Amino acid sequence: MAFLKPYCVFMFMVLFSSYVITLSVADRPNVFSKFPSYWGGGGDDSNEGNGGFGGGGGGDDSNEGNGGFGGGGGYNGGYSSLFPGFYENSCPQVDDIVMSVLEQAISRQPRTAAALLRLQFHDCFVQGCDASILLDDSSTIASEKRSNANRNSIRGFEVIDEIKSKLEQACPQIVSCADIVALAARGSVVLSGGPNWEVPLGRRDSRTASLSASNNNIPPPNSTLQNLIALFNRQGLGEVDLVALSGSHTIGVARCVSFKQRLYNQNGNDQPDETLEINYFNNLKSVCPRSGGDNIISPLDYSSPTKFDNAYFQLIILGKGLLNSDQVLLTQNTRTMELVQSYAEDASLFFEDFASSMVKMGNISPLTGYNGEVRKNCRFIN
Ligand code: HEM
Repeated sequence: MAFLKPYCVFMFMVLFSSYVITLSVADRPNVFSKFPSYWGGGGDDSNEGNGGFGGGGGGDDSNEGNGGFGGGGGYNGGYSSLFPGFYENSCPQVDDIVMSVLEQAISRQPRTAAALLRLQFHDCFVQGCDASILLDDSSTIASEKRSNANRNSIRGFEVIDEIKSKLEQACPQIVSCADIVALAARGSVVLSGGPNWEVPLGRRDSRTASLSASNNNIPPPNSTLQNLIALFNRQGLGEVDLVALSGSHTIGVARCVSFKQRLYNQNGNDQPDETLEINYFNNLKSVCPRSGGDNIISPLDYSSPTKFDNAYFQLIILGKGLLNSDQVLLTQNTRTMELVQSYAEDASLFFEDFASSMVKMGNISPLTGYNGEVRKNCRFIN
């Protein structure tokens, strides 16, 4: 098997020493442009049972040592045996196949990019980056797709299936579903105008899922900053990772139910969140009623919802973060506030830190060697 061949050790050394994060430069976003109409339109390539969408409108607190392999801090012993050239001989077409499916899927439905980026987060925060999130219910599996964070919300599974079936034709049972998730997330960022980076590969797929860990490890949108930091620390991620990775909310949408509390009853006193900018607050109220309308969606970054840029941070500074978890990055702690300000001013810095933190998140407890398996169908164990 590919991972046992001795040249892998040599390749690892070569690739490790030449490891580079490649960055592309963002255009400056237009923070004040209008809500694009296509977010309200509904129809998408959504996951099962999601019909309600589209109605309207080891912790450290630094990124030091974040160069891509391990990076320190409480996961996998601070070291990962993943490396970018893992499929160089066994499936050299892997990148091309992933990118060609993504290009088509994202041009059909731009939101797919956001869905696939989020998928990696929800995979890696639950028993590591092992594709556990892709498993459907079965006699031995309680699917994570049913958890509080994922139910009626997580999507992109059909695109992963399409990539997997093309890869099974080209190189049968070589590329793991967990690596497909990581490559799809990176490709989605690139195709949305964000940074590129080399994805360390060689993850294997779990034979288990954890509905309870999905409920407990993925932060809810009304989290306090303290709670966000604690949940990231639990995965070996620090404050830089938290703020940089929250920048994912530069693309995609959230449902009314995810931010309703801020509009009508932030602190149990029937008052809105006072950190919301007033015009933005009124706009949100017009699309997200006090009762009902839970599945109506709003863009997380309304100025450029399909473009991966740093407008998300600029909006937060204006009091226009959509989720409580977005806005508290500015309002509840000096260190995270400074990071929000730096990323709002400097898109290249954001891109660099984002790419590093994606690699770091992708290194959370991967299954390697003889652990786990390479699934034939990402939805079921072999
Ligand atoms: C910091 C803690 C985070 C919280 C509390 C959070 C919460 C949420 C919520 C509530 C939504 C909307 C879900 C819905 O209403 O259906 C969302 C969407 C999204 N999240 Fe996060 N998130 C966090 C971090 C992240 C990270 C680390 C990533 C990726 C690395 C990410 C990527 C996304 C993307 C791309 C979307 C849009 C998905 C779509 O349009 O389908 N989020 N997030």
